Amino acid sequence: MVQMKISNKAAPVNFVGVSKVFGRNVVAVDDINLTVEAGKLVTLLGPSGCGKTTTLRMIAGLEMVTSGQILIGDKDVTKLPATDRDVSMVFQSYALFPHMSVLENVSYGLGFSGFPKPEARARAVAGLELVGLKGYDGRLPSELSGGQQQRVAVARALVLEPQVLLFDEPLSNLDAKLRRQVREDIRAIQQDLGLTVVYVTHDQEEALAVSDEIVVMRDARIAQVGTPRELYDAPVDSFVADFIGEANLIPCEVVAIVGDTAEVAVDNYRYRLASRGLPTGPAQLAVRPARIMLGECEGFDATIAKATYVGVRMEYSLQTSFGSIFAVLDDVAHPLKANSRVKVGFKQTGPVLIPPN
Ligand SMILES: Nc1ncnc2c1ncn2[C@@H]1O[C@H](COP(=O)(O)OP(=O)(O)OP(=O)(O)O)[C@@H](O)[C@H]1O
Ligand SMILES: [Mg+2]
Repeated sequence: MVQMKISNKAAPVNFVGVSKVFGRNVVAVDDINLTVEAGKLVTLLGPSGCGKTTTLRMIAGLEMVTSGQILIGDKDVTKLPATDRDVSMVFQSYALFPHMSVLENVSYGLGFSGFPKPEARARAVAGLELVGLKGYDGRLPSELSGGQQQRVAVARALVLEPQVLLFDEPLSNLDAKLRRQVREDIRAIQQDLGLTVVYVTHDQEEALAVSDEIVVMRDARIAQVGTPRELYDAPVDSFVADFIGEANLIPCEVVAIVGDTAEVAVDNYRYRLASRGLPTGPAQLAVRPARIMLGECEGFDATIAKATYVGVRMEYSLQTSFGSIFAVLDDVAHPLKANSRVKVGFKQTGPVLIPPN
């Protein structure tokens, strides 16, 4: 019996001023600079049409850049065709061969790469074991669940030991429960083997759960790059604040700047926080629903429009002079009543200051 391990040739990916224009004027990707470190899982996140798939396909060589450079490891691959790049891609649709067994599907690409049959087989068996499908070798794809089919697609990509592994919305054909399971599997395999993965999704929760770093894209450009925590705690603008998790966007006035600290006013409420380079004048606060205090605290005035008990917490919709706010409180023992007047304040790690809209 040939023992075979899947080894790791993970390489970094670099984008230098990369643009992609389709036809005459569809700018799908606009001057992107990006580094994906070796052994990290980086997610491209953004709304439909923002350029995620195009970015991924340019790494694979399935699209050629219009301008700029792409490097994988130290090698400039900008002009290399897909077949000469050491990259594999896992698609949303799995794209398994229906008439081939699971084992044949996984070893298919290895045959092309010139592996002798016994070694291709041994690697495929190792790949299937890695994704938790030991003993499924002889089945047809039609005899597997959606989650199992997607894992076959992952195994097929893994056994090629690519320098970079690409995933384009790999979970969108799965139901909610399987989605969580398969995303945890993908992350565990990536971390165990130290693979470089570029992962595309438009689901912010999925991105927060699996990523070392998230690249938020908007209209063909990068809006912000950061760890999940950095993006959640310190979004640069209202687009990112709103796209990553729920955020209330509250208009405010920066009334004073002292050093790196801004004093802001929301109605009569004054609050101090990091100025993040903003000048005095109109601005916005992005504040997460769980970082709001209600009741007898210092704050601005609001009316409780709706109070909902959801078991582990209370959810409140609040009416204020500048619109509605959503708040989540842990205190289910002392619910506040609908139509009552309350003060709304911010917790100590509360809002962040972002530019006005
Ligand atoms: N082959 C093509 N020819 C012309 N325009 C294209 C082509 N592929 C993509 N586009 C356009 O480029 C832009 C970016 O497309 P892309 O597929 O990268 O978006 P996406 O972020 O992956 O979106 P989604 O979340 O819907 O998959 C869109 O405006 C799209 O219409
Ligand atoms: Mg896409």
